[in-house]
Amino acid sequence: MIKVVITGSNGLLGQTLVKLLLQEKEKYQVFGFSKGKNRSGREDFNYISIDLTNEIKLKETLTEIQPSFIINTAAITQVDVCEEHKEACDLLNITVVKWLAEISKSLNVHLIHLSTDFVFDGEKGNYKETDKVNPLSYYGLSKVKSEEMVVNSKIKYTILRTILVYGQVFDMSRTNIVLWVKDMLEKGQEITVVNDQYRAPTYVEDLALACKIAMDKKAVGIYHIASNTVLSVFEIAQQVAEVFNLDKKFMKPILSTTLNQKALRPPKTGFNLSKTNKELGFYPKSFKEDIQRFKESLM
Ligand SMILES: NC(=O)c1ccc[n+]([C@@H]2O[C@H](COP(=O)([O-])OP(=O)(O)OC[C@H]3O[C@@H](n4cnc5c(N)ncnc54)[C@H](OP(=O)(O)O)[C@@H]3O)[C@@H](O)[C@H]2O)c1
Repeated sequence: MIKVVITGSNGLLGQTLVKLLLQEKEKYQVFGFSKGKNRSGREDFNYISIDLTNEIKLKETLTEIQPSFIINTAAITQVDVCEEHKEACDLLNITVVKWLAEISKSLNVHLIHLSTDFVFDGEKGNYKETDKVNPLSYYGLSKVKSEEMVVNSKIKYTILRTILVYGQVFDMSRTNIVLWVKDMLEKGQEITVVNDQYRAPTYVEDLALACKIAMDKKAVGIYHIASNTVLSVFEIAQQVAEVFNLDKKFMKPILSTTLNQKALRPPKTGFNLSKTNKELGFYPKSFKEDIQRFKESLM
């Protein structure tokens, strides 16, 4: 049995990964770490209620389990929260990663760490893994620092950078772009959506699969995971409306400057997927195909 610890097992990716790995119960023994109660709706894995910012408890619990892999999905992912609460962001997004890397070294664990397109400034777009990072936000900076920590720690590691993740899990603490557009248009409520930021949205089922492939291949290095389609966020919302047969008249395009957000966002990201195609054998599809699959999963 391969022992896998998933941190942030109550989150969007965390719950999806738990579900995916439990499809092969004879192969993986799954341990989910999150704060508070288990919100995955499943009881058939080892759920451990733990605050990851408690270094002693974290290291003791991992030493007891002796996992082969840790998949670190936990993070403060809200960009403006990081901008306003820098100490909390540092603690979870950087210091906890440092502790995970230290314990991975002493227990010979392969650490799979999640990062983001926000490590880039968004001037160029279509980013390769080797492109120069230049974060615009504190969240992006925290992820750059966490990546450096992992890369320099002399452990077996995979860093998966991803973009604008969407999907649905059992009990969600927050929404995402596709669900939000769908829910608002279904209620006939007007929405404003930025048309000057470009992203390649990522279906959470694909991201979870990429984590599993990275684990099975013991891939070492940085990999980019997203759909193969770069669209403005407004175009993303339009495609959601088309696939779910919802009325586009409730959507209005706006400029991001009108939102007065605390943190700056990169104008254009999207990933070059060549390395992921070649080394992981993973070929992400178009956004349209992905949301079609997402729609079918909801039926
Ligand atoms: N979502 C995106 O669009 C996106 C884009 C690029 C990169 N990423 C990266 O992908 C990864 C997964 O994202 P996600 O959307 O699945 O995140 P998420 O839904 O916000 O899940 C993160 C989980 O971590 C848990 N957590 C937070 N603080 C904790 C603590 N101190 N101790 C234990 N657990 C704690 C949260 O618990 P609660 O639910 O109780 O708060 C939450 O369940 C993150 O590293 C993120 O930075 C995400």
